[in-house]
Amino acid sequence: MAVELYRDPQHVCLMFTDLVEEDGQAVQSNQFLVIDHGVGALIDPGGNLAFHGLFASMAPHFPPPRLSYLLASHADPDIIASLDQWLTSTRAMLVISRIWERFAPHFTKVGQTQDRIIAVPDEGARLPLGRSTLWLVPAHFLHAEGNFHFYDPVSRVLFTGDLGASMVSGTQASQPVRELAPHLPHMEAFHRRYMVSNKILRLWTAMARQLDVDMLVPQHGAPIQGAQAIADFYAWLDGLACGIDLMDACAYQLPRDRIDLTTRRTMPPTPAPAPSLARSDQTTP
Ligand SMILES: [Fe+2]
Ligand SMILES: [Fe+2]
Repeated sequence: MAVELYRDPQHVCLMFTDLVEEDGQAVQSNQFLVIDHGVGALIDPGGNLAFHGLFASMAPHFPPPRLSYLLASHADPDIIASLDQWLTSTRAMLVISRIWERFAPHFTKVGQTQDRIIAVPDEGARLPLGRSTLWLVPAHFLHAEGNFHFYDPVSRVLFTGDLGASMVSGTQASQPVRELAPHLPHMEAFHRRYMVSNKILRLWTAMARQLDVDMLVPQHGAPIQGAQAIADFYAWLDGLACGIDLMDACAYQLPRDRIDLTTRRTMPPTPAPAPSLARSDQTTP
């Protein structure tokens, strides 16, 4: 079911939260449709798990074959692994960081991406959408090396990819969070491991504070809405140690544990057998 983030007569933002559910195998993920004056863009359309559900779910709102853009915040499988199916069923252009331009074709059949990619330079740009624009905002290393967020100045929604992600169900993801503190336990472990460094977080918050944002919408979990919750989110990021901040020599030791093929989990190494008495007897004169 589509969640309406914004609607006026000429501009619509929809979110789909329940097409890929948190089930222990695949992480819950959101997909987004932005329409302005009859021109449509999909944001982070997802992997093969999402394709058929998204195609069917968006159809009542916008005819999928008429899509103009597929916007990918980065090149992870949960972002764009369905690329081949979307390029086959639409005439849309893929909009992605220039550093992924020559990697994205690995998701598709030979030649499928020919003249179908808009490669975005590191400094970002403003992409025409109907009579509006979508801002392709730099978010490099949050978490991918070439990473963009998408700001819609009409709805004042900032689509933040993996930044702001929370590990919740699709139903919970459909409800915007207006108070950050109770939400932090759903976010903290993910951000500590997936975001690259506090330096990058602070560079990003300094830029993001210049935008007029009503709702910050991640690709996993619930949107964060309202001036106070968004200000609290920026402040939380400013103080968060993550990624390489937390890595030291302990994280770079040669492995000793073995993978048990029954449980598919790591186990401590098997202790070396103790020297046998018989053997030591043989060495006695
Ligand atoms: Fe990602
Ligand atoms: Fe993701």
